[in-house]
Amino acid sequence: ARPGRLAVFCCPPRALSPPASCRCRRRCRTMAFVTRQFVRSVSSSSTASASVKKIIVKHVTVIGGGLMGSGIAQVAAATGHTVVLVDQTEDILAKSKKGIEESLRKVAKKKFAEDPKAGDEFVVKTLSSITTSTDAASVVHSTDLVVEAIVENLQLKNELFKRLDKFAAEHTIFASNTSSLQITSIANATTRQDRFAGLHFFNPVPVMKLVEVIKTPMTSQKTFESLVDFTKTLGKHPVSCKDTPGFVVNRLLVPYLMEAIRLLLNRLPNMYGNSNSGLGFSLKGDASKEDIDTAMKLGAGYPMGPFELLDYVGLDTTKFIVDGWHEIDAKNPLFQPSPSMNKLVTENKLGKKTGEGFYKYK
Ligand SMILES: NC(=O)c1ccc[n+]([C@@H]2O[C@H](COP(=O)([O-])OP(=O)(O)OC[C@H]3O[C@@H](n4cnc5c(N)ncnc54)[C@H](O)[C@@H]3O)[C@@H](O)[C@H]2O)c1
Repeated sequence: ARPGRLAVFCCPPRALSPPASCRCRRRCRTMAFVTRQFVRSVSSSSTASASVKKIIVKHVTVIGGGLMGSGIAQVAAATGHTVVLVDQTEDILAKSKKGIEESLRKVAKKKFAEDPKAGDEFVVKTLSSITTSTDAASVVHSTDLVVEAIVENLQLKNELFKRLDKFAAEHTIFASNTSSLQITSIANATTRQDRFAGLHFFNPVPVMKLVEVIKTPMTSQKTFESLVDFTKTLGKHPVSCKDTPGFVVNRLLVPYLMEAIRLLLNRLPNMYGNSNSGLGFSLKGDASKEDIDTAMKLGAGYPMGPFELLDYVGLDTTKFIVDGWHEIDAKNPLFQPSPSMNKLVTENKLGKKTGEGFYKYK
């Protein structure tokens, strides 16, 4: 078009081949040429990304058959992956498989409410995709992905990955489900830092939709994208985060939980002296634990209040996370330990799992 005049085309600007009726063929052809170039450049840039040939995860090894590992194994098997679940003893593995079966039956009851036979088949087929082992090194030679969900202990995780690094196939990706340890410091035990990332699932795994995919400075784009794809095949929603304390969810959630304790206990120097609330807390704080829980459920729309959640997660787990952060950054007011929560932990009042935490159960 000449300056100051609008270009008029008789064909849609994206028409790659102007129709025979076109009365401005020259302009349309020019437009078509420009469009073709554009399409070519876009497709060549997407080919560049596609040329990072991702690992399609089919075979998964899950190490640790506890709460999280069982859930991860269940979800992976239910979505068409073959799974080897590893733990220290056959007894633990038998319990894990029993737990998985019970959980699958619940899923089947809902998913196949109209067709119980199909539900049974789903349970049997999913269970048949899970084998177990007490020797991780002997099963990782042909696996695409190792997801580690053993106890939250850096030294144990390092020892495990160092050993597996020698036995796993070259292409195998390693991932840790740690809640609070630095992924880089776990990856450093291996020679495959580029094929190492965090894969942080949430409890209970079959129910919770989120997975945080943690990319360290060494994690390759190929590894990261392969893990994002894997989480999608599980029916989960991935979010990505750098290797920072608590990633996204715990970084926001744990300080909130600790603040709830401070709110409950405020101005209570002798907090365990006055027993009138089951736990020995007097209700002289800024609000009672029941009211704080109700407030956050009804006022903020949270499904659980902070004390219900602390008891559900386990006070020992929260303590472990806060202590770890405090060690890294002692001056950060958000990372201050709570002496009162620590006292409950010392008394083995860890929450639901021991029958008592902030609330009493049974
Ligand atoms: N519990 C949660 O809500 C939660 C949520 C997200 C992430 N995580 C993380 O997931 C991991 C596991 O947590 P969990 O709650 O499932 O713990 P858990 O105690 O229920 O299970 C850990 C399992 O690992 C096994 N184990 C320990 N050392 C092992 C080894 N060397 N080889 C094989 N198995 C071994 C134990 O026998 C146990 O069965 C931790 O890193 C934790 O931080 C936990």
